[in-house]
Amino acid sequence: MTANAHFQIAIDGPASAGKSTIAKILAHNFQYVYVDTGSMYRTITLAAHRAGLAYSDEGAIAQLLPDLQITFQPGTPLQRVFLNGQEVTEAIRQPEITNNVSQVAAFPKVREFLLGKQREIAAQHSVVMDGRDIGTTVLPHAQVKIYLVASVAERAQRRYRENLEQGIDVDLATLTKDIEERDYKDMHRKLSPLTKAADAIEVDTTSKSIDQVVSEITNIILKKQQNHPVK
Ligand code: DC
Repeated sequence: MTANAHFQIAIDGPASAGKSTIAKILAHNFQYVYVDTGSMYRTITLAAHRAGLAYSDEGAIAQLLPDLQITFQPGTPLQRVFLNGQEVTEAIRQPEITNNVSQVAAFPKVREFLLGKQREIAAQHSVVMDGRDIGTTVLPHAQVKIYLVASVAERAQRRYRENLEQGIDVDLATLTKDIEERDYKDMHRKLSPLTKAADAIEVDTTSKSIDQVVSEITNIILKKQQNHPVK
């Protein structure tokens, strides 16, 4: 059915549905490479901010792209992210970046640039890749596609707790509004909007433990692998 040389697990869904937590554990358990594509969009947004560019200036942001090297290293609780060799793991999660990344992620030149990078990684390794358009656009032949959802209230609570752990102080009402706004922007942009792929399996993480969700998705993956042996 697929021409993939490696196994591909695509995990999409709205902000704070639990994608990166779940994807990281699955990648560890299956010994696949974890690719957090949201952090790539965040890193470009940070580079634009540091260069003093307006987030609306697609042309100027596009000019930065050829000089940006985004790399990952394993880390806990977050995968470590580097921009041209300098660690930006925490910097890309600050509210300034979180609140502007949807605008930068909507630019065709930015998406095209990252699409190439993401496919390059998947051509070389079996991956668990999480984002918004992995099952629909980046890896349309992924053997497993999961669409992870959770209620807005629970997602806001999760982001609130994550923020506290990182010393970021934003109240729950603001986070709820931010999440709703980001969902809207991610779902309504012209290019590769957040949407469930026709062949994706929806998993609702509301009121479920991380272990429960991991085991549910692991069963889906193992079933697939019985039918399509992995290289
Ligand atoms: O998952 P996250 O919150 O780190 O994602 C940050 C933003 O990046 C999100 O608002 C939308 C964008 N994004 C995207 O457009 N496509 C992806 N594959 C991943 C993230």
